[in-house]
Amino acid sequence: MADHICPWWLGYLLVSPLRRLLENPEKLLSPFVRQGMTVVDYGCAMGFFTLPMARMVGSNGKVIAVDIQEKMLIRLRQRAERTGLLDRIQPARPEDVGKLKDGVVDFGAAIHVVHELSEPKTFFLDMRRVLKPGGKLLVVEPSFHVSRADFEESIKCAVTAGFTPTIDAVTAGRAQVLQ
Ligand SMILES: C[S@@+](CC[C@H](N)C(=O)[O-])C[C@H]1O[C@@H](n2cnc3c(N)ncnc32)[C@H](O)[C@@H]1O
Repeated sequence: MADHICPWWLGYLLVSPLRRLLENPEKLLSPFVRQGMTVVDYGCAMGFFTLPMARMVGSNGKVIAVDIQEKMLIRLRQRAERTGLLDRIQPARPEDVGKLKDGVVDFGAAIHVVHELSEPKTFFLDMRRVLKPGGKLLVVEPSFHVSRADFEESIKCAVTAGFTPTIDAVTAGRAQVLQ
């Protein structure tokens, strides 16, 4: 069970432009995100991946950006407003995912967040339910922080919730695409 949540002030570091040298959102997400899609960015913080995803889904798509910390969502909203992307971004709380209808989401991203979840099984069950048939969930965890054994435990948890690991190649820390 997770006992640590990323402090809100670290959110400012996570959106540093320098981070793009190590993790390029477009490179990571372009195999999955298309114009017009509805996508979930779970554990979005201040939107390092959310804003690029909003550009990728275009004006007829939507990013449901989920975080448990209000301060993260407030700053995300400000950044989205400033970049003219707020109309495609829906800031949301974890409980809002449980309220989504079945099969309405094309793609989900859970980047550097699964190790922080107190109830990963509930998360995977919710995501499985809201994804369309064939919809994918990308899980990425930081290798410096999450052991291979712990990562494999998370993937096992996803499998018990109904996901199947796919062989899509992802060039990021500990990463797995689930379908
Ligand atoms: C390490 S940060 C990663 C943020 C972002 N995905 C990125 O890579 O820049 C993890 C984020 O997940 C959020 N988080 C932690 N537990 C959560 C939960 N149960 N539901 C939704 N978000 C959660 C934290 O508030 C934090 O903003």
